[in-house]
Amino acid sequence: MWKNLLDWIEYRIPMMRVANMHALQYPAPKNMNFWYVFGFIATVVLVNQIVTGIWLTMNYNPSAEGAFASVEYIMRDVDYGWVLRYMHSTGASAFFVVVYLHMFRGMMYGSYQKPRELLWLFGMFIYLALMAEAFMGYLLPWGQMSYWGAQVIISLFGAIPVIGDDLTLWIRGDYVISGATLNRFFALHVIALPLVIVVLVFLHIVALHEVGSNNPQGINIKHPKGSLKEEDKTKFNIHEYYTSKYDIINDVVPFFPHIVLKDLVAFTVFCAAFAYVMFFNPEMGGFFLEPPNFEPANPLKTPEHIAPVWYFTPFYAILRAVPDKLLGVILMFAAIVMLALLPWLDRCKVRSVKYRCGFHKINLAMFVVSFCILGWLGIKPATPTYTLMSQFFSFTYFAFFGLLWLYSKNEKTKPVPARITK
Ligand code: HEM
Repeated sequence: MWKNLLDWIEYRIPMMRVANMHALQYPAPKNMNFWYVFGFIATVVLVNQIVTGIWLTMNYNPSAEGAFASVEYIMRDVDYGWVLRYMHSTGASAFFVVVYLHMFRGMMYGSYQKPRELLWLFGMFIYLALMAEAFMGYLLPWGQMSYWGAQVIISLFGAIPVIGDDLTLWIRGDYVISGATLNRFFALHVIALPLVIVVLVFLHIVALHEVGSNNPQGINIKHPKGSLKEEDKTKFNIHEYYTSKYDIINDVVPFFPHIVLKDLVAFTVFCAAFAYVMFFNPEMGGFFLEPPNFEPANPLKTPEHIAPVWYFTPFYAILRAVPDKLLGVILMFAAIVMLALLPWLDRCKVRSVKYRCGFHKINLAMFVVSFCILGWLGIKPATPTYTLMSQFFSFTYFAFFGLLWLYSKNEKTKPVPARITK
């Protein structure tokens, strides 16, 4: 009877066919390593944010008069409200930790190169939407840092010539940040942006499954049919699309159970780390929840030191490195655009860092160092020494992209194996 029911459904909607093609029997390169777990973990965090967000919304009051008190109410009076709130606030930071590692994996293995340019671009749009989502969410508790952080960031749009002032007014919906701003940020945070992110993640996966996953060796797993010896082939059933044009058996394993098991190990480790932060260190020394945000927003009192949450600080440091406001804003956005342009800036024929020249390895390492130091500088006060350091590391950040474009075309690479070996 059960089988009949499944057949009845399958006849009308391709449930098992899609599950097989995109999950159970999705051909995953057999050398996928631990860097490949972060896409799955990011999906877990996305679900966590949506579910805990829905429950928080049930007791949150999106008004300038009631927002701060309603968060206190959630923390103190709502049953397990504190668990929901800490799951959501820890989830926000975890999202960025995971997404940064996920992006770095892409940079290491050249996963943005042809034919995965669009997959990378969808990733960059997710990243932008995620930043907007986090920024708007941060206003909602209506604490001092929510208020003044939003004040600083929204005022940046004022630097745009001609339309700047009108634009800031339009974003705020008022002459100052007020209940009107809170209301619209709430609407965007709880419905518009989550929808955008979910749709983008769907497109991200569709684009990935169209071209197939890259792997730590950065070599193609698709080989024209007939290029493999018959005895090399092990038997398993992959969707027609792959077998009809290409011969990939031997380089891949079915997603279930091989990759699912690896992802489950990662999920367990992630849950342990997440639970540690959530239960023992939810503020993470002021990095995940900043101390001034435990005071209600006060438009008449500027906090001594305004700094965005850690995941924005590398870009904030670039902004502050430039004395001219407009140029600072341009450079800050350029820092993100550069990442989006990677598929075209990197002209090397080899994908994985494993087979690329020594200079590329140093360049990539320097990029990571610059990004981390800029992140640290973004939380420091803008003293002359720190500003000078921000200028230096902003330069090295951009130098990564410029140098990559220059040397990658004629780069001396190591020989790349024809088949996946590890
Ligand atoms: C909500 C955020 C995101 C989610 C849920 C997500 C999800 C995924 C999943 C499930 C995979 C396949 C598993 C894996 O390779 O890890 C994947 C692959 C990939 N993602 Fe994302 N992703 C997100 C953000 C991003 C961002 C911001 C970028 C970069 C700009 C990006 C770039 C890539 C690339 C290049 C691949 C293919 C990697 C390869 O095959 O080597 N993703 N993503």
